[in-house]
Amino acid sequence: MTRKLFVTTALPYANAAFHIGHMMEYIQADIWVRFQRMQAEGNGLREVHFVGADDTHGTPIMIAAEKEGITPQEFVAKIAAGRAQYLDGFHIAFDNWYSTDSPENVELSQGIYRKLRDAGLIQTKTVDRFFDPVKGMFLADRNIKGECPKCHAKDQYGDNCEVCGAAYQPTELVNPFSVFTNATPILKPSEQYFFKLSDPRCFAFLRDWLNTPGRLQPEMVNKVSEWLGEAGEKLADWDISRDAPYFGIPIPDAPGKYFYVWLDAPVGYLASLKNYCGKKGINYDALLADPGTEQIHFIGKDIVSFHLLFWPAMLQFAKHPTIDRMKVAVHGHLTVNNEKMSKSRGTGISPLRYLNLGMNPEWLRYYLAYKLNSRVEDLDFTGDDFVARVNSDLIGKYVNIASRCAGFIAKKFDGKLAASLSASSQEWIKKALVAEDGTERQATIAANFDSREFGKALREIMEIADVANRFVDENKPWVLAKDESKVAELHDVCTTALILFRQLSILLSPVLPGVAANVRAFLNDDAFTWADTAVASGAAWQPMLGRTIGAYSHLMTRVDAKMIEELFDAPTQQAAAAPAAAAEAAPAAETAAAVGDIEELAPEISIDDFSKIDLRIARIVNCEHVEGAGKLLRLTLDVGEGRHRNVFSGIKSMYKPEDLVGKLTVMVVNLAPRKMKFGVSEGMVLAASAKDEKANPGIYVLNPWPGAEPGMRVR
Ligand code: MSP
Ligand code: ZN
Repeated sequence: MTRKLFVTTALPYANAAFHIGHMMEYIQADIWVRFQRMQAEGNGLREVHFVGADDTHGTPIMIAAEKEGITPQEFVAKIAAGRAQYLDGFHIAFDNWYSTDSPENVELSQGIYRKLRDAGLIQTKTVDRFFDPVKGMFLADRNIKGECPKCHAKDQYGDNCEVCGAAYQPTELVNPFSVFTNATPILKPSEQYFFKLSDPRCFAFLRDWLNTPGRLQPEMVNKVSEWLGEAGEKLADWDISRDAPYFGIPIPDAPGKYFYVWLDAPVGYLASLKNYCGKKGINYDALLADPGTEQIHFIGKDIVSFHLLFWPAMLQFAKHPTIDRMKVAVHGHLTVNNEKMSKSRGTGISPLRYLNLGMNPEWLRYYLAYKLNSRVEDLDFTGDDFVARVNSDLIGKYVNIASRCAGFIAKKFDGKLAASLSASSQEWIKKALVAEDGTERQATIAANFDSREFGKALREIMEIADVANRFVDENKPWVLAKDESKVAELHDVCTTALILFRQLSILLSPVLPGVAANVRAFLNDDAFTWADTAVASGAAWQPMLGRTIGAYSHLMTRVDAKMIEELFDAPTQQAAAAPAAAAEAAPAAETAAAVGDIEELAPEISIDDFSKIDLRIARIVNCEHVEGAGKLLRLTLDVGEGRHRNVFSGIKSMYKPEDLVGKLTVMVVNLAPRKMKFGVSEGMVLAASAKDEKANPGIYVLNPWPGAEPGMRVR
């Protein structure tokens, strides 16, 4: 039976360009897919369908589009148009790239929902939700800001605090306000649709599903088991609805209600497959119903709950045919110079900048593969380590073999390899390709690729390269070439070296597909399959004997350490073609921040952006405590405009009112007035605070040098 693999990566949010963490996930999945595709008949032939899509729905994208004055559809189309340069650039060979905002996804999501409803797993409940009375809409968690209920950091989102990391409900925020209008939100009852994850059927199913051997990494089984509780008591119903206006898929028979983005996002895997099947003339339903079909999702550790609780439960009770043959492969996160990257802005390395600097995409593929294993561990990109690893392995060990021997074959033997090998060379081939216990190294390497132990696979491949280099060093073809009587020996040695080089190229081809294609052209091989690496069958060396090969051209250059400096340097100009230029510009700023323990620098802005903020010198004409407010002082400010302004400022912990009266400070005068619990605040006083407010909770109000007067603009 042919194994049919339906493979996906997580669907990236369509609100920004790819960052280097995305590329890591795609490279991991792509290597695995390419390895599977090399398997031949008799060795479990695999037919692989590798699909991806943009995750387009939800509030942040709706807001981003609104800001740009375009429709969400136009917005996500712009993002989609920017994807190919990254995917092609790093040799990532999805069969299809699609969108969750598609007819297939509407049909499939609504179909799954109807089946869940028929199974009695959908329930409605009326819950109080924050509502913006000015804009007249319900507010998503990220549309509400306020003071963190735990650490009291200001200006935190409604779902979690970026300062102390606490998670909470938006209703717990202190002084909440709508990000659209600054209005204080009101609570309004709304009917919501829930997926009944608390139903005992879900627990019974999930417990067995998770514990099926080989389905998940052991650490994931443990983690998710904790979420289930002993008897499912920890499983809470999942709110799958959002109120209009919302960019999403309408819930059937529920006017004004849409699926929460995380309901339709994973269904997008199926939508992309279905769309691809349509293009290829493959029967989608038959493919899924085929008992040989397996479903594999590559995802990062941050989205495990969606993929290991909600998604399998949804599929099970919607009677999805491959649920028993579904696996989820979870990876850790990539850090850069041991700095965590921010979800929205990526890291210090921009993938496009990497490519635009002329850096070889296969260096990165090799480096990441070398660091990847099957566990849920973070991995780090470090510049020095990258240079050392690539130069020592790929150039020093691998390419070196061909560059030291290929020329002699061309020059002295008309491009023709020897028709037979000496006994000694045959011994060397065995020494290189067969381990001491008699197992063929290619089989161990295959098992490691298959189980996503890429680092182990590459270390074993480099051991073969080490033996090959020892062979060349000991036999010194450059010495043999000077002695006419040694011509047969030279032929034998160079042929053997190129046989080993071919073997290395085949074994490396899931990781280095571009190099592999060039090697195939050079060696006149039409295809590399894993069967070509077998030693016992002779496949690894016999086909090379007597073969005429092409001219060798250099396969790969060394990494120049200067490139790494440029990679991390502030970009002089932004990649204008990138749809989300802001996301591309951010990395350099973040790297700068990595030097000291300061807050991340914000993305670059233009002088025009800056001049939108009207900063003025203000005199504090009065200052008093605010009854009932733990952190606020009420300031009365004069900026020379013929009236006084009322401003609340969270500086009570630092200053007594009488210390401030009469002093000058700097304020933002054109900030939209904000209605707060204690009155309207008509501007903001500037103050400095440390990144880690726990370590340094101080707030320091700005004070101009002598000579400044109320009303002067700060520019
Ligand atoms: N849209 C959701 C996924 C929906 S799946 C039906 C999402 N998008 S994302 O763009 O934020 O992340 C996409 C993938 O990139 C996730 O698997 C995430 O774990 C992965 N990564 C995000 N940052 C990463 C690193 N720093 N390193 C490696 N992978 C990273 O979540
Ligand atoms: Zn906090």
